[in-house]
Amino acid sequence: MRIGLEPQCVRVCQNKSCRKLGAAKVLAAFQAHPIIGVEIESSRCLGQCGNGPMVLVLPEQVWYCRVSPEEVDAIKTRHLINGRPIQSMLYRKFHG
Ligand code: FES
Repeated sequence: MRIGLEPQCVRVCQNKSCRKLGAAKVLAAFQAHPIIGVEIESSRCLGQCGNGPMVLVLPEQVWYCRVSPEEVDAIKTRHLINGRPIQSMLYRKFHG
């Protein structure tokens, strides 16, 4: 967790396209073992259908695409706890 900064929020899209690609399990993985200071939100369509499950981390606006439940622990540990977004998993459209 980043101390002294505004709280983080992870939005996990749960709209139709992302749900078809397994977004419910991704959300469940984020909700398991909560991290203090990090909110997990079920989100409406994030406008990037077909690239899901989409995950958006705020306030830094870091986007992850095609996230699998198995990858969630890495996002939690490396990004949310240690503050280092995982470059190889970023959504290239916004993180070219
Ligand atoms: S359904 Fe997830 S981005 Fe549109």
